[in-house]
Amino acid sequence: MIRKLLVPSLLAISTFAASADDWRNRSIYQLVTDRFATPDGSSPACDTSNRKYCGGTWKGVVNKLDYIQNMGFDAIWISPIVANVESTTAYGEAFHGYWTEDINSLNSHFGSGDDLKALSSALHDRQMYLMVDVVVNHMAATSDPPNYSSFEPFSAQADFHSECFITDYNNQTDVEQCWLGDKNLPLADLNTEDDNIVNTMNTWITTLVNNYTVDGVRIDTVKHIRKDFWPNFAKSAGVFTIGEVLDNATTYVSAYTQVIDSVLDYPTWFALTSAFQTPQGNLSALAAIVQQAQSSYKNGEFMTGSFLENHDQPRFQSLTQDQALVKNAMTWPFVQDGVPILYYGQEQAYAGGADPANREALWLSGYVEDKPLVTHVKTLNAARKAAISANSNFLTSPVKFLSAEGTTVAVSKAPMLALLTNGGNSSTPSWSIPAAGYQANEELVDILTCTKINADGNGGVSVQGTSGQPQVIMPTSALSKSGTLCANVATGGQASGAPALSPVPTGAALALAFIIANLFG
Ligand SMILES: *[C@@H]1O[C@H](CO)[C@@H](O)[C@H](O)[C@H]1NC(C)=O
Ligand SMILES: *[C@@H]1O[C@H](CO)[C@@H](O)[C@H](O)[C@H]1NC(C)=O
Ligand SMILES: *[C@@H]1O[C@H](CO)[C@@H](O)[C@H](O)[C@H]1NC(C)=O
Ligand SMILES: *[C@@H]1O[C@H](CO)[C@@H](O)[C@H](O)[C@H]1NC(C)=O
Ligand SMILES: *[C@@H]1O[C@H](CO)[C@@H](O)[C@H](O)[C@H]1NC(C)=O
Ligand SMILES: *[C@@H]1O[C@H](CO)[C@@H](O)[C@H](O)[C@H]1NC(C)=O
Ligand SMILES: *[C@@H]1O[C@H](CO)[C@@H](O)[C@H](O)[C@H]1NC(C)=O
Repeated sequence: MIRKLLVPSLLAISTFAASADDWRNRSIYQLVTDRFATPDGSSPACDTSNRKYCGGTWKGVVNKLDYIQNMGFDAIWISPIVANVESTTAYGEAFHGYWTEDINSLNSHFGSGDDLKALSSALHDRQMYLMVDVVVNHMAATSDPPNYSSFEPFSAQADFHSECFITDYNNQTDVEQCWLGDKNLPLADLNTEDDNIVNTMNTWITTLVNNYTVDGVRIDTVKHIRKDFWPNFAKSAGVFTIGEVLDNATTYVSAYTQVIDSVLDYPTWFALTSAFQTPQGNLSALAAIVQQAQSSYKNGEFMTGSFLENHDQPRFQSLTQDQALVKNAMTWPFVQDGVPILYYGQEQAYAGGADPANREALWLSGYVEDKPLVTHVKTLNAARKAAISANSNFLTSPVKFLSAEGTTVAVSKAPMLALLTNGGNSSTPSWSIPAAGYQANEELVDILTCTKINADGNGGVSVQGTSGQPQVIMPTSALSKSGTLCANVATGGQASGAPALSPVPTGAALALAFIIANLFG
């Protein structure tokens, strides 16, 4: 899709506006801007329990794009960019970016408008996408009642619902019209039933997306605004929209898939973390939730955000230290229908518990790349890309549960067969899948170890694992001899280990093409 912008010279300039379809084959790295990278590469101390700014900036992100791209990600999601409350509140400083005070200014802790534009162009130069996090539901106050004149542009009490803190999450009116936060830090709830507020927000998101050439918008606290607010907001954004609807029930979340492009798939997240946390986790319950999501979400689970960690939840390694369980759980987002999202630091085995402990500074890891989980993520991204290249229907074929019993589960998304287990590091799992969908005796490989196996005479797969490790099976013909993924056993021709990127015209080249098309077309 091409977006036209009017510039003062009245020439039509065009840039890409990335649609949901354009995001379907991506893989996203989520980062907390303040905690990802410093602009000068320094490594200051950062005690998460202090809840203070630690020094990460947009310039810092630009300098570390190699690190992200080397793992195979082709999009990043950054924390909210607008100006937040500046004082130290009862809950520390607004380093995470979710305490908006002024939607028309940027958070200067993260850099200038030019720095953000530079990040956007650095990403586009690499054919990567930029997703920006936005908060529409509320503004943050440091006193109760709020000093409304400190807000920009909503500086009157009448711009907000009257103050009441949410008490009953089963009462949707309460959820939408009462306030998040508490008396120490009220999150004043905007009156999003008011046409002026609605128009201001819609114009704002159009401008923000255009100002910084944003490719996608992650929307905070979506369930706290009436559903019919969202379609026009999403349309005004003009790019892919993905919303946070924090609930464990697909029946609740599915309604929101009707009003924005996509949701972060929280129901699956609840089932996933519970299923792989211990050998007692329920893998059938994971299957049940995924199947409910596939049948009740507007676009199935395609284009939902699929994640194991984020900035709001305890990291998985604070729930279990067993690396076999960790590897299995981390595999899931890459072998299913949605867009995989990895929360920064997971690849470095960060283990922070609930907020604020889960927002560690990444520079303290030294960005070391030869670590087991960095390799794991790199392999999984490469495998997903190879599967996308090998099967043009990969991204539109729902993942199928071939079995889910006891401590093992097998899911198929041709040409990929993921064999997962929650048995833990001392278990010896085995999977016997009579109808795995391969050709008789087809040559296969577990891309996590590059071990070759063969399908049986009916295309089935029977394997025994070691130490509770997951396996991700693909035909050797789906892998490229010149690629990075098990090249020693690959028999395919096409490069598939490296991201298959087609050159994207730059803004200027496109503008020129557009002018030429307008002159001669
Ligand atoms: C309220 O905010 C305005 C604008 O920032 C400021 O000028 C004023 O001093 C504040 N009032 C109080 C009571 O803090
Ligand atoms: C639901 O919440 C609204 C807003 O707080 C309140 O006015 C209403 O009485 C509640 N309804 C029920 C049934 O509790
Ligand atoms: C967009 O850029 C203009 C010009 O720099 C600026 O005045 C405006 O505040 C920006 N708006 C947003 C939402 O970023
Ligand atoms: C969701 O959570 C609630 C409250 O903890 C629980 O009662 C319910 O069984 C859960 N539902 C699902 C679908 O997991
Ligand atoms: C596991 O989940 C399935 C599907 O939701 C359910 O039928 C079964 O009772 C659960 N098993 C246990 C042990 O809780
Ligand atoms: C298995 O994981 C547990 C929990 O982290 C750990 O204590 C143990 O050393 C691990 N065992 C092996 C064989 O890796
Ligand atoms: C994603 O799909 C588009 C076509 O929709 C294609 O141009 C692009 O190369 C693909 N990107 C990746 C990373 O596979």
